[in-house]
Amino acid sequence: MKLSRREIVKLGAGAGASLAFGWHPDLTQSQDIVLKAIPSTGEKIAPIGIGTARNRFSTGADPAEIAERKRTLAAFTEMGGSVLDTAPTYGTAEVLCGNLIQEIGNRDKYFIATKISLGRRARQGGDLKQAGIDQMTESLRRFGTDVIDLMQVHNLGDTENQLASIREWKQEGRIRYTGITTSSTRQYEAFERVMRNEELDFVQLDYSLDGRLAEERLLPLAADRGMAVMVNLPLRRGRVFRRLGDRPLPGWAAELNCKTMAQVTLKFIISHPSVTVAIPGTYKMDYLNDNFGAAFAPLPDAAMRKTMADWYDALPEG
Ligand SMILES: NC(=O)c1ccc[n+]([C@@H]2O[C@H](COP(=O)([O-])OP(=O)(O)OC[C@H]3O[C@@H](n4cnc5c(N)ncnc54)[C@H](OP(=O)(O)O)[C@@H]3O)[C@@H](O)[C@H]2O)c1
Repeated sequence: MKLSRREIVKLGAGAGASLAFGWHPDLTQSQDIVLKAIPSTGEKIAPIGIGTARNRFSTGADPAEIAERKRTLAAFTEMGGSVLDTAPTYGTAEVLCGNLIQEIGNRDKYFIATKISLGRRARQGGDLKQAGIDQMTESLRRFGTDVIDLMQVHNLGDTENQLASIREWKQEGRIRYTGITTSSTRQYEAFERVMRNEELDFVQLDYSLDGRLAEERLLPLAADRGMAVMVNLPLRRGRVFRRLGDRPLPGWAAELNCKTMAQVTLKFIISHPSVTVAIPGTYKMDYLNDNFGAAFAPLPDAAMRKTMADWYDALPEG
C-alpha cells in the first residue's frame, strides 16, 4: 500500500510543518511512501522507524542537542513515520523520548516500541515477574500514556515468563502487540525455537547488507508464522558506511530513487518481503531526512536485491 503526497500531508501539518522543522518537502513531492502491513492485524506502518540506542538520546545532553532531538521526533511523524524503538536500558533514552513526545504532543502519531530488559538479572533469578511488570509500568509513565504499542522481551531474557505478563497486559488493553528481540547470531537457534513455540505479533532482529544470516531461517519463518519483522542494526552501527567509504553511488541507485548510501542500504532491508520496518539510529535532522528518504517507492525487486547484495559483497572489507 502506498500513500499519495496529499495523504502524507494530511498526516502531518503540511507545508507549515516542513518549514518549521526543516525537513525536505521534496521527499514527498513526486514519490509515494510505502506502507507495510503488520500481519496479525493488517495495520499499516511506514517502513522506516527510529532507533534510540547508542546514547544519542540523553537527558544530560546540552540544550541545543536536546532541541535537535525534539525537532527530529516532531518532524518524523509529520513525514508520515510512526515507529520509535527504545528500551529502559538505553541510558536515559526512554525518559528523554517520553518527555519530548509529551512536550510535542504527538503521542497519537507514534507507534511506541519498548522492551522488558532484564539483562543479567534474567540469569540471576529473584522476582523476575515483578521486575518486568515494574519496567512496563515505568515505560507507560515515561511516555505519559495508557497504552504501549509494542512490548518486546529484550534479547530473550526470561522469555516465557515475561511473555506471559505482556500477554496479560495485552488482554487488559495496555499493550497492543507482543514481541521478542535479538541482535546476536549466537541467539538465532533459541530465537527460532521461541518463534516456533509462541504466538507473537513481532520479532525484532538484526539484518543488513552487512549481515544477512537472518535470510536463511528467521525471515522465512516470520512470514510462515505471520509475524511482523522489525530490523535492528540496519547500518551495523555505522560499519556499513565504513565499508562503503566515499565511493560514488552505483549506477542502479538512480533507478531506486536513492540519493545516498543510507537509502541504498535501507531500501535493501525493507524490500525483503518478510520485513515490516527498519529502525536506524536517527537522532538528528540530517539523518532523518536521509533515512526516511528510503521509505518512498520504488523498492528493489528480487533481481535488483541480488544485484545489491553482490555489489556489497564484492567491496573490500572496511
Ligand atoms: N537486541 C536488541 O533489541 C537491539 C540491539 C541493537 C539495536 N536495537 C535497536 O535498533 C536500533 C538501531 O540500531 P543502532 O542504533 O544500534 O545501530 P544502526 O541503526 O545500525 O546505526 C546507527 C548509527 O549509524 C549512524 N547513522 C545513522 N543514520 C545515518 C546516516 N543517514 N548517515 C550516516 N550515518 C548514519 C549513526 O552513527 P553516529 O552515532 O556515529 O552518528 C547512528 O548512531 C537501536 O537504536 C535500537 O533501537 C535493538
